[in-house]
Amino acid sequence: MADTAAITIPARRYGDRQTVLEEDPQVWRRTWLLVASTDHLAHPGDVVEARYGLAPALVVRGDDGRLRGFENVCPHQGAPLCLGAHTGWDQIQCNNHQWTWDLAGRLQAVDFGAPVEPGQEIPLQPLAVETWGPLVFANFDPGAGPLADDLAALRATVEGAGLDPDGLRCRSLVQVLTGGNWKSLVDGATAVGPVPELGTRQLPNLAVRADGGAGTVTIVRARPYVSVDRAMFDVLVLEPRPAGQAPGDQRPLDVTLKKDDELPTETGVDPDLIAFARAQLTPAPPTDDLLADPDERPELVALHTWLDERQR
Ligand code: FES
Repeated sequence: MADTAAITIPARRYGDRQTVLEEDPQVWRRTWLLVASTDHLAHPGDVVEARYGLAPALVVRGDDGRLRGFENVCPHQGAPLCLGAHTGWDQIQCNNHQWTWDLAGRLQAVDFGAPVEPGQEIPLQPLAVETWGPLVFANFDPGAGPLADDLAALRATVEGAGLDPDGLRCRSLVQVLTGGNWKSLVDGATAVGPVPELGTRQLPNLAVRADGGAGTVTIVRARPYVSVDRAMFDVLVLEPRPAGQAPGDQRPLDVTLKKDDELPTETGVDPDLIAFARAQLTPAPPTDDLLADPDERPELVALHTWLDERQR
């Protein structure tokens, strides 16, 4: 947690290409990453991907019912294996030269269906996968500690509102490509001001609001994009799962908003959040280092103290 002394936040953390590169091994490949929901991955052959800057993850439900995560990179020549969310896959096949793996990540065929020769068995790179309530997380680090160790704040927010995470389903996932740095997006979404305050930041890149009265949870997930001045701003809405409904009985409403697309009201997403994200398209990154007082900006100080430890 934060020290009582003010800390200096380097401006380069918000607008420097080198920082984006450093965050790949130091942050995204060592952190539990929210990928999707169990409602996206209820049936064998359901698959979802989520890219965090240079760290692309996919999670698939296998024929045996098990969730598995893989790096979303073809081991042949590096093409992405999956874009978006899909159902009904019985294999994972790269579009480029059709190398093909089964849903457990074992190579089945190489160039355009050619058989795998002995010694050529190149599996997909596995990721750790764990779930909490309806949320599915992946971790690139084979030595990662349990997901539960990193979820204290999320658990406190949801359970503190009187909600049972196991009684929730994912209603929608809305994604917007916007500008700026993932940190400034979460900073803004958790700030008190004209933007809807989402309460406690969940380290490092989530902000969560739980509404005990409505029984809903809104999660903002900010992800670095591959260029330094772009980021993905995603909003997941969780709602009570109707009695008798199992994961997968009703697919979440997935929407990727382009520049002037209207936000469908059925998503249940607060329009002010999307307006905030769109207003970040051309932000000016800070040019001066910032002195942050933990009494005034505890969330910000906690994040950067955490980053200091990762980037030491
Ligand atoms: S890059 Fe994937 S099969 Fe060649």
